[in-house]
Order: sequence, then C-alpha cells, then structure tokens
Amino acid sequence: MPQKILVAVAWPYASGRRHIGHVAGFGVPSDVFARYHRLKGNDVLMVSGTDEHGTPVMVAADGERRTPRETADHYNAVIREDLRNLGLSYDLFTRTTTANHYRVVRDVFRTLYERGFIFERTMLGAFSPTTGHTLPDRYIEGTCPICGFPDARGDQCDNCGNLLDPIDLLEPRSKIDGSTPEFRNTKHLFLDLPAFAERLREWIEAQRHWRPNVRNFSLRYVEELQPRAVTRDLDWGVPVPVEGYEGDVNKRIYVWIDAVVGYLSAAVEWAELRGTPDAWRDWWQNPEARHFYFMGKDNIVFHTVIWPAELLGYGEGGELGARRGALGLPYDVVASEFLTMEGRQFSTSRGVAVYVRDFLSRYDPDPLRYYLTAAGPEQQDTDFTWAEFVRRNNDELLATWGNLVNRVLTITQRNFGAVPEPGTPTEVDRALVAAVDGGFDTVGSLIETARFKAGLAEAMRLASQVNGYVNDSEPWALVQRDRERAATVLHTCLRCIDSLKTMFTPFLPFSSQRVHELLGHQGQLAGSLAFADVGEGDDRHTVLTGDYASWVGRWAPAELEPGRPLPQPSPLFRKLAPELAEEELARMDPDRPAPEPASA
Ligand code: MF3
Ligand code: ZN
Repeated sequence: MPQKILVAVAWPYASGRRHIGHVAGFGVPSDVFARYHRLKGNDVLMVSGTDEHGTPVMVAADGERRTPRETADHYNAVIREDLRNLGLSYDLFTRTTTANHYRVVRDVFRTLYERGFIFERTMLGAFSPTTGHTLPDRYIEGTCPICGFPDARGDQCDNCGNLLDPIDLLEPRSKIDGSTPEFRNTKHLFLDLPAFAERLREWIEAQRHWRPNVRNFSLRYVEELQPRAVTRDLDWGVPVPVEGYEGDVNKRIYVWIDAVVGYLSAAVEWAELRGTPDAWRDWWQNPEARHFYFMGKDNIVFHTVIWPAELLGYGEGGELGARRGALGLPYDVVASEFLTMEGRQFSTSRGVAVYVRDFLSRYDPDPLRYYLTAAGPEQQDTDFTWAEFVRRNNDELLATWGNLVNRVLTITQRNFGAVPEPGTPTEVDRALVAAVDGGFDTVGSLIETARFKAGLAEAMRLASQVNGYVNDSEPWALVQRDRERAATVLHTCLRCIDSLKTMFTPFLPFSSQRVHELLGHQGQLAGSLAFADVGEGDDRHTVLTGDYASWVGRWAPAELEPGRPLPQPSPLFRKLAPELAEEELARMDPDRPAPEPASA
C-alpha cells in the first residue's frame, strides 16, 4: 500500500536572493527525501512557497524603495527560479499572498479564537520616538537576555536561537536610526500556548526518532511556555478575523502564524488546482499519513511547538476541517544545523554569501547537491569552502561515480555498440550485483531516517566497489583475449550502474537522467519541473510544480536487457580547475587581492 507522505518544506522569505546556506538547510534534504519516496512508489505531496509577510519583507522593501508587495513579487520570482534550477521537485511552491492562503489562515485563526485558545491582552509595544509609529520586531536590535549576544533581533536571537519579544531585549535600539524605542500599551491577541503545554510535552517526549537536538531544544522550550502574541502592529499581512481587529488597517496576523499555516493552505491549493478539491484531506485528515518537515535549526520551535499547538487547537475544524478528522501532527521535524562560508557566518550585507543563482550560473546543480549532502550541516555546523567544493567534485563525484560510468560505457560502446549478451556469471559477478542491489535497502533506510549524508556515502561506497571490480577484471584488455567473458564483465558493470543510477537519483537527479539515457533507456527517470500561471485577477500568480506521476524510475534493482543500442557516451561531470577556488574567493570578497593570472 503506498503511503501518504507530506514533505513540508520551510518557506523562504521573499526578502532577498537565497544563498547556498539556505538551500542546504531546507532545500536539498527535503528534495532527496521526496524523490526517494516517489521512486519507492509512495504518494508524496511536497509543498512550500515564499513567505511574503512580516518585517523581513518590509525591511527589504524599505531598503529597495519599493512596496512590500513589489519586493515580494520580485523575490518570489527569483527564488522560485533558483529552486527550479536546483531541481527541487515541489508538487506546489506557491506564495503566502494568495486568496486561498488568506482564507485558510483566517479560518485557522478564527477557529482558535472561537475555541478560546486566542485571547486579548494589553502589552507593551515598541514605538519609534522619531516617527511615533510602531517599530516592528525586526527593526529592533539589542542584547539577548538569555545569552548576552549583542546583536539579537526583536523576534529571535541568532546566537542562541531563542524566540524573543522586543521588550525582552536589553538596551534595545531601532535599526533604522539607532534611537531607543519607547514601549507603550497596545492591545494584541495571544495564543494560549500554556493550554497545550502538557499535551505537547508528552507528545515531544514520545518522539524518540527525532534528531536529539530537535527533541531536546523543544522539550526545554515547552518547560517555560508563555502565551505568545499572534498579532502585530503592521499594515502588511493577513487581516485579523476578530471583531475590533478586522477593520483596523494597522493590525495583522503575526507572520509566523501565517507562514506555518502555509503547509496546510498549499495542500489545499494543490488539490484545487488538480481539480480534486478534497484530495488534500488524504494527507491532512488521515491518521495513516506521515508528515516530514524540513528547515534550518532557527525554525525548530515553530514546527515542534507553535504549529502543533495550532493543529491541536484547530481540531477537526473550522470551515476547512469540516469535522472530517483531526489535522495530522508532524511525524518528523528534520532540522539542519548552520552552514558557514569560508569560516565566516553568511552575511548578505557584508557580501559573505554565495547566491544559488550565481552558483548555478557557473556550476551544474548536481555537484552543489552533492556537496551540500556529503559535506553539509546535517547534524552539525559545517563550513563551505571553495577548495573543498572543487576537491569533492573532482576526487569524489567525478573520480568515483563519473569515471565508472564513463569508462564502462566507453569500452562497451566502442566494442559492442549495445548492451552485450552476458555468458554465465561467476561467483564474483553475482556477489557484486548482489552487493549493489543490497543498496536499495541500506541506502533506502538511511534516507527514510533522514541520514542523507550516510545514504549518499553508502551509494558512493558501492560505486567504488564496482570500480574495484573494473580494475580487477580489466575489460579493456579482456575484450582482446576473451570477448565472451568481456561481455559478461561489462554486462555486470552496466547492470550495477543501472541500479546505482536509481540510488543516486534522489541526490543527483540531473546526472542520473543522463546515465539513464546513456544506458539506452527512454522516458523521464525523475521528471521535470514546470511553472504554471494560476488564479484569476488580483490573485493571478505563478507556481512551481511538476508532473511526477509519469516518472519511470523505480527504487528496485535494474533489469537491463542485452541488445539495447548504446548512444555515444560523454562525461557526466566537469573537472574543475583548482584555481577556481581562488577566483571564487576573490569574487566573493572585494577586499581580498585577486589571484595572479596563471602564466601560460
Ligand atoms: N520564512 C521563515 C524563515 O526563513 C521560515 C518560515 S517556515 C514556515 O525563517 F514554517 F513558516 F513555513
Ligand atoms: Zn541569545
């Protein structure tokens, strides 16, 4: 029975171009996972979109002298293209500014309010002494009261990861002009998190399969749950569906409440677009379905505490839920650690960043996907260096997998022109095929448990093993002496490569498709992504989607019939010159001296 798998990917802010640190956290891991489950025959629904409300977008818009809407439109387009070019196979990548999203967010919010889980309270809000207007969280910085980090933001400390309110900051200052904000009484709506504390604690306690940092961090957070303000004094966001707030143009739903509801609203939009408006319920109101969330570690508690509290509070509905079953809680919350860049924190303002767009203008997507999986921040912070990128590309990806494919196909193509007819295999031949096919279980279960780095390493180990077999059996010499035995050896290699290509597909979809074609197969092994214009009038928007039902790949040992003609092979990966590392460093940091031009 195919399983319903929801792959819920963190929504990037439409406030700037995304750099490789971002896609290392939410992007590549979620796509490896989704592609694997599709190959396995499960029913995957992978959703996300750009997060377009809240102060991050407003701050960016201010800086660019555009309206928040213009900024959101601009970066939505940039981000969705980057994600497509990286091959991230969303079923729907949409936006938080759609009519559908507003409707779903308001339904969730209203239902929580009607059930008494959202209540009004007066709190101290920050106002600018210079303009008299409210100062949103992200416009305020100060010292973190928990860890003492001097540049904590009003909503969160980037050093210790704790969520904050601006009033918590020591020595708060306005980001705009450095002035000290004034705190005045203002009315807001609060989510009653303490009402869920006991259920959340028990539930998180039982999630032994979560990564330890995710579980521990969340358990600590539920120990001290306070009600959390879920409205903001802003004019950009989803209007609050509660009397006294509804007409107020300066009150909006807090961006984080709005964004996490996106996982649900995007599933609803996806179902609607397919012409099966109730199909989202198979993932969301189905106790058999499993929900996997992917994000960077700064997003953990929103997914392990705040969103689950909303889901519990919503129960079976509201308008949308319609008493047709409770909404599913996360099954796993897969949070990555942070990627640094050449030993420094990513900083777009200081130019310490490599944007996905720039990266893909000079390199292919698979080497980046390879690097971010093999050397990315899966369970600990890791550093991206250009030298290591070049080394991993040349000495691992190309030397092991690329070379194997290239030399076996070249010898076979030159001497047979087609998949050769094998003779009787030896023990060694059989053992090799069995070892490689065993990878479907080992690599598969590593991916299922979100150990992507280990899964990729295991697939690479199997590729090395096949390389060893090629070295030992020397088919290039054998073909002169004993053509029949050479045919058996090459068939064995091709058969292994055919299986390995499937195992690599979740990680390296583009080059796996090439191998698929080089082996003379037809069809899309891993599908292709597409943009679609949807919605009417003001609600017109472009989504990223794809047709994955027509994929021909299957997570199972290959069957490679002899006689199939083989096309002319060409290398899978490009070798990168070591000097590239220096060039890239110079490009990234204008203060660093440019490398000496290579002498001829
Ligand atoms: N936009 C947020 C960020 O970049 C992430 C939102 S994830 C979601 O930190 F849960 F809200 F969708
Ligand atoms: Zn801190």
